[in-house]
Amino acid sequence: MVLQAIQYEPASASSPPSLRILDQLLLPHRTTYEQVSTCEEAHATIKQMKVRGAPAIAIVAALALAVEIGTVVAARKLPSSAEEVKEYLSQRLDYLKTSRPTAVNLGDAVGKLKIVAKKATLQPDATPDTVAQAYIVAAERMLVDDVSDNKAIGEHGARWIEENTVAGRKRKQEKSQELQVLTHCNTGSLATAGYGTALGVIRSLRTADMLTRAYCSETRPYNQGSRLTAYELVHDQIPATLITDSMACALLAKQGDRLAAIVVGADRVAANGDTANKIGTYSLAVLARHHGVKFLVAAPRTTIDLATASGQDIVIEERAPEEVTRIKGPKVTPEGKILVDEGAEVISTAAIGIEVWNPAFDVTPAELIDGVITEVGVVEKVDGKFDFGPIFQQS
Ligand code: MRU
Repeated sequence: MVLQAIQYEPASASSPPSLRILDQLLLPHRTTYEQVSTCEEAHATIKQMKVRGAPAIAIVAALALAVEIGTVVAARKLPSSAEEVKEYLSQRLDYLKTSRPTAVNLGDAVGKLKIVAKKATLQPDATPDTVAQAYIVAAERMLVDDVSDNKAIGEHGARWIEENTVAGRKRKQEKSQELQVLTHCNTGSLATAGYGTALGVIRSLRTADMLTRAYCSETRPYNQGSRLTAYELVHDQIPATLITDSMACALLAKQGDRLAAIVVGADRVAANGDTANKIGTYSLAVLARHHGVKFLVAAPRTTIDLATASGQDIVIEERAPEEVTRIKGPKVTPEGKILVDEGAEVISTAAIGIEVWNPAFDVTPAELIDGVITEVGVVEKVDGKFDFGPIFQQS
C-alpha cells in the first residue's frame, strides 16, 4: 500500500470533485482521513498542521479551491461573467495563502494559479465555466507533477551521493561497505503528493541497493521525524534508526565516512541558496561541516524563491509555546500496548510559567550547503555561489 496524505477524486458525471486529507496530528497511531470541501476547511487544516510539509500544503490549498469551485459548477451557481469567476478565485487564493507564511510553495502555487485564471479570462471565447475548468485542470496538474518531480529528485540525489561521497564510491565497488544517510523532519509521501523529496532520495538509494541505513531525527518540538518519517520508513521496510536531535553530533562522530550525507527538505530556498527548513536543520549543517559530511537540500523548483534575495528576508513562523511545553499521544500500558481507543493524553513537560521561544523553522546559510537537489539536477556552488537561474530555463 502506498502512503497518501492527499486523496483527490476529480469530478465525474454525477459528482463534483472531492478531497480528503490524512490527519497527520493523529499519526502514527491512527489513520484517519478528513474531508476538505471549502477553503475555510483547508485553511484550518493547514494552520492546525493536520497537513504539513511545503509541497503538501500548496497542493491541498490548490485542490480545496478546485473542490469549492467544482461544487459551484455542479450546482450551476457560477457568477455570471468570466471576470467575476477570476476575481472569486483570486480572492480565495489570497485567503488560502495566509494559512502559513514560511513555505514558499503555497505562494508559488497561488501566483501560478492566478495567472491560469487570468489567461483563461482573456481567451476570446471565455465563459464562467471555462475559467473555472482551467483552474481545476491546473490545480489537478500540480498533484500529478509533484509526484514525478519527487521521483526525479530522488534519482538525481541518489546518483550524486553515489558519485560524490566516500561511502557512495566505496559502496559502488564493494557491497559490504555501509552507506548511511541522516535526515531531519518529514519530507516523504506525507509532506508531498507522494514519494517525497529528501525521503525520496533515501527511497531511490534503497531501490538502487546503495543505502544500508537511514537515520531520522525526532525533530523537536513537533516530532515530525519520530511520528511521520519513522512511520514512513517502517512502512517501506527501509532499515532505519530514530535518534533525538541532540544525538546527531555523536552519530556523526561514531559513523565517520559510513554516513554519506545529511539530506533535508526545504520550505524556502532564497536566491543565494540560504535555506529555511524545519528548526534544527541549521545545527545539522554546522555539524556536517565540522565532520566533513556532505549536506544536501532536496527541493523542487517550486521551493526556490528567486524573489527572496537571502535568508534574512525569509519570514519565520513562530508557533504556540504549548508545542514546546506539552506532548500529546495515546497512553501506553507497562507492557507497551498502545491504548489508541482511549484518545490522546496531553502531558506537561516544562515548568509552569517559563517563557518559551518556538520558531518553527531556521535558516541554513548557503555556505554550509553542498548541493540543492531539484527535479532537473543537483545545483552546486560555482566560485562559492549558487546560481539557480539556469534551472528555471529547463523544462
Ligand atoms: O512545520 P511543518 O511540519 O510543515 O514543516 C515541514 C518541514 O519543515 C519539512 O522539512 C519541509 O516542509 C520540507 S517538505 C518536503
